[in-house]
Formats: sequence, C-alpha cells, structure tokens
Amino acid sequence: MSKALTIGVIGGGLMGHGIAYLLAGPGHRVGVYEPSAEVRASIPERLRAIVELLDDVPAILERIDVHDNLADAVRSAQFVFEAAPEKLQLKQRIFADLEALVGPDTILASNSSAIPSTEIGRHLKHRERVVGTHFWNPPHLVPLVEVIQTEWTSDEVVRRTMELLASAGQQPVHVRRDIPGFIGNRLQHALKREAIALVAAGVCDAETIDTVVKSGFGARMAVLGPMEQSDLVGLDLTLDISEVLVADLDRTPGAHPYVREKVEAGKLGMKTGEGFRRWTPEQANEVRERLRRFLVAQRKVPRSKRR
Ligand SMILES: NC(=O)c1ccc[n+]([C@@H]2O[C@H](COP(=O)([O-])OP(=O)(O)OC[C@H]3O[C@@H](n4cnc5c(N)ncnc54)[C@H](O)[C@@H]3O)[C@@H](O)[C@H]2O)c1
Repeated sequence: MSKALTIGVIGGGLMGHGIAYLLAGPGHRVGVYEPSAEVRASIPERLRAIVELLDDVPAILERIDVHDNLADAVRSAQFVFEAAPEKLQLKQRIFADLEALVGPDTILASNSSAIPSTEIGRHLKHRERVVGTHFWNPPHLVPLVEVIQTEWTSDEVVRRTMELLASAGQQPVHVRRDIPGFIGNRLQHALKREAIALVAAGVCDAETIDTVVKSGFGARMAVLGPMEQSDLVGLDLTLDISEVLVADLDRTPGAHPYVREKVEAGKLGMKTGEGFRRWTPEQANEVRERLRRFLVAQRKVPRSKRR
C-alpha cells in the first residue's frame, strides 16, 4: 500500500463528502473545509451512512476531520480536491487562497463539471500543479474519475493524481485536453441527442428508448465499451453501418426544441411528476432504489483491503 498522505477537500456537499470518504479509505488523512455550519454538522452522519451502505470499516471515519476554515483543512496537504459550488470566480478565489496556504508542489484538483480547470488556474503562479478531477455522482459508488490535463498541467501531476485515485479504488482516465464535457458527458449527451430526436420525431416514446438501451446494447455496455465492441464485430462492418447511418443521425444545432418546450411547460422530470415520461412519487423512488442497489452491489470493498 502506498504511503499515507494528507489531503484537503474543499466543500463538504454532495460530492465533497463522498470524495473525502473515498480518499480516507486507503489510509490517507483527510481535512474537509465546509463553510456552512449546517452542512458541517451533517457530514459525520452522511459519512456513517456510506460506511453502513457499503458495509465498510468504521475506522475510515476517524481519518476525516471537518473544519470551518480553509487553512486548517489543507495544512501539510500533498493534494487538495476542490468540490465547491460551480462558480468560476468562487473557484478562482479558492485556488488563489490555496496557493498562499500550501507548498508549491501540492497538487490542486478541481471537481468542476463544466468550468474548465484551465480557467480556474489561469492566474496562479504554479499552474502546472492544477488538474481537473471529474468524479461522477455519487463518487463513492461510481468508479470513474476523468483526470483532465490543462495546457499547463505537468505529466508528473497527472501521473501522481491517477496513482492516488487508483489506490483509492477508483478508475482514473487521462483526458489530454480540457474540452467541454470531457469524455463521459460528451458520450452521454451524444446518445441523448439522438434519443430526444427520435422521440420528438414520433419514432417511439421515451419509455421505448429506455427499454432499447437497457435491454439492448446497454445490457452489455458495463463489460463491452463501444470501441472494443467495434473491434469485436470488425471495423469493416462498422464502416458499412456508418456509411448508411451516420448521415441520417440528428444534427440539430444546440439544445433540441423538444427539451426546451418541456422545460417551459414545467415538465422537469421526476421532481415535477413529468419530464420525458410521467412519474408517480413511488415510481420515482423505485428508480432511485434500483440504481442504488445496482451501484452498491458492484462497489463493495473487501474488508481485507482496508486499514
Ligand atoms: N452533483 C453532481 O452530480 C456533480 C458531479 C460531478 C461534479 N460536480 C461538481 O462538484 C462541485 C460541487 O458540487 P456538489 O454537487 O457537491 O455541490 P453542493 O452544493 O452539494 O456542495 C458544495 C458545497 O460547497 C460549500 N461551499 C460554498 N462556498 C464555499 C467556499 N467558498 N469554499 C468551500 N466550500 C464552499 C457549500 O456550502 C456546499 O456544502 C461542483 O463544481 C459541481 O459542478 C457535481
């Protein structure tokens, strides 16, 4: 097991507390900075709930301290993971404060989903240690972390960040350019674009889209990515299908008007009882519970791998 590190996590909200839990798992000491007294008070309970959910070892929680000030949370930290609200100026200010508090070698990672880490680190003195680490929600259940290299991030910083995340049981991938949506959200939205266009064109209803994905190619996707699937069937076949199909796929520039109409009509999804599909509160809960059970079953960490 690699040497125990000291790690700061900025923001103890939805993502921050899960990231703190993950990093404390393999034995690292984690300090969480959370300015809201209410959120701070809720963190121990939320962390205990993760331990229970995953039947993990309670000693993990002893390695996480929650602070009401930034300096204490990042004291002697070799890594800092920022999971504060998605506002550029706020994140820039946090990173400027961090630069004044930590050594020049401390790696500063942002969990931003949309704001480029390039912009967050633009005005810093040591921009080579700024890196994007895009976790997926909930971070303690979804293994992927996209590690985004800005034009200034050094290869060494990418390497050390990926090593740390792998040691915490995550599946880090290297994104070599800081582009909108990184890799995962681009792929997800490419699929959604076509799904929305098919429903808008009356080819099928929204439920059918979900059935086709879950019972069709989605059923094998957790073990067979699209590139290996193409190699499996052969690129000659992939080319033949591309020649027929690609020109026919949706090319609506920007957001599809069908989604805009739904939003304008207040049909926002499960929270309003209707989005692409209609939902009773019981049906919505059933979907959440099904997802939780599936993710937990895949995620449990053997106790033998814990400190
Ligand atoms: N929620 C998701 O699904 C998801 C997924 C991937 C990435 N992200 C990104 O992670 C980041 C955090 O998102 P979240 O969903 O955890 O939000 P959240 O609102 O649940 O948590 C943010 C926390 O930051 C705290 N905060 C406010 N000002 C702060 C400051 N100046 N310094 C430190 N903390 C501060 C808030 O009190 C709050 O507890 C965002 O950049 C978001 O885009 C979110």
